[in-house]
Amino acid sequence: MPAVALSDLEAMQGLVGQPQLGVYAASRAPRYTSYPTAAQFDGAVGSDLHRTWLESAPADEAVSVYVHIPFCRRLCWYCGCNTRVVSRAETISDYVRKIERELELVYRTHGGPFIASSVHFGGGSPDSLSPEDLDWLFASLKHAFLLPKDVEIAAELDPSSVTSDWIHAAARHGLSRASLGVQTFAQPVQAAINRPQSFETIAQVVATLRQARVGSINFDLMYGLPLQTCGDIEDTVEKAVGLKPDRLSVFGYAHVPWMKAHQKLIDPSDLPGASERFEQAETAATLLVRAGYRRIGLDHFALPDDALAKASIEGRLHRNFQGYTTDRAQTLIGLGASAISRFPEGYAQNHSDEVAYRGAIAEGRLATARGVSLSGDDRLRGEIIERLMCGESVDLAALTQKHGQPPNALDDARAPLQRMEGEGLIERRGSSVALTERGRFLVRTVCTAFDRYFLGETVRHAAAV
Ligand SMILES: C[S@@+](CC[C@H](N)C(=O)[O-])C[C@H]1O[C@@H](n2cnc3c(N)ncnc32)[C@H](O)[C@@H]1O
Ligand code: SF4
Repeated sequence: MPAVALSDLEAMQGLVGQPQLGVYAASRAPRYTSYPTAAQFDGAVGSDLHRTWLESAPADEAVSVYVHIPFCRRLCWYCGCNTRVVSRAETISDYVRKIERELELVYRTHGGPFIASSVHFGGGSPDSLSPEDLDWLFASLKHAFLLPKDVEIAAELDPSSVTSDWIHAAARHGLSRASLGVQTFAQPVQAAINRPQSFETIAQVVATLRQARVGSINFDLMYGLPLQTCGDIEDTVEKAVGLKPDRLSVFGYAHVPWMKAHQKLIDPSDLPGASERFEQAETAATLLVRAGYRRIGLDHFALPDDALAKASIEGRLHRNFQGYTTDRAQTLIGLGASAISRFPEGYAQNHSDEVAYRGAIAEGRLATARGVSLSGDDRLRGEIIERLMCGESVDLAALTQKHGQPPNALDDARAPLQRMEGEGLIERRGSSVALTERGRFLVRTVCTAFDRYFLGETVRHAAAV
């Protein structure tokens, strides 16, 4: 994907206020961290099928590992993650013991250790584990997985709760990337989302991470938050850039109170409209590109010498449940409540309900609740959507052939593609489809043209911009 020149971003300003963009910006589309998306998962995939997939996973191919820690010390009102506030240390320790048993199940089912190319601790806030629980978790991980010297170990951290002890303990185990939830520095916005957090706190955590030689630091920023303005975004980006993170993710607030009841604490009349969201995202992108960051896919930014930036230039970018990644592993082993595993055959998700997860593991069963088996058609559409989400052009005929699908396999996409071409979202040359600058911003909407399961507005997703 070529770098976005500042002029390209500035040219996009002309889009604001155009009625067609308004329609799309306010429209709803999945984030396509997988295809089919989790909305298509059902009970047809249970622990038996999950076990078969684990058994047949090749022993010599490296896998990725995701460990979900569903605990936080505070509840942010905007939060869309699977987490809850827990203060009892025993509750967290018991959960870590369940992950240890789940790791043992994975090891035994596979008949030996997997090689792991990357391990990602997500949440919630993995820093809610005590340093002792962290030691315990790493000991079990190192039993079930062979971790090569260059394994990438990443953790999502809440800067207001992570301690220096935690960082040093994780660094001793090889933590190589930390992702800090920064979101916004604007105090009225922080108050409206129940997330007070000072610049000094973030700066201190960054300094500790660097002192502990955690090599890569990512910041999560957000736009579209209640009371947030473009001026707030300018100020937040300026302060964030001053701390020189290697990467930034800029997420649009997904307001889904029908799924996350605590979001009802946010007054909907305080939320920016579609055009304001667009302007805020564009402001952040413009300033980050001006500060020397390369724009990657939908919502990531990285310094030019960062591995993610290099992968995006060289067409080696991938997309998974954590967003954009350089990780090429075909298999992802998800551990913990709500974690999703990916195999060449399909996706399997653990129970999101922690009690059901703990119960299944205590009985010595995989905690699979749902998932989806992939058809050849799903794989074809999944690759098209992944490439588009990574900002690349796709040759539909070549990919259809590669996946052994009939030449008319994508006929249903013709009409929406024609409409999107007319609206300036894509360009077509022969059987190739490429995003325009305008389309790149609305890439989720473009991807719906290939999504056989997309039911438009009848299924509720968050706003597409
Ligand atoms: C697991 S949290 C990061 C670590 C830590 N819990 C924290 O908040 O600092 C993952 C990230 O998801 C993003 N996020 C959470 N809820 C969201 C929502 N409703 N819409 C968009 N992004 C959201 C935030 O940027 C957050 O930093
Ligand atoms: S945003 Fe992070 S700290 Fe806040 S509730 Fe969600 S997971 Fe926890």
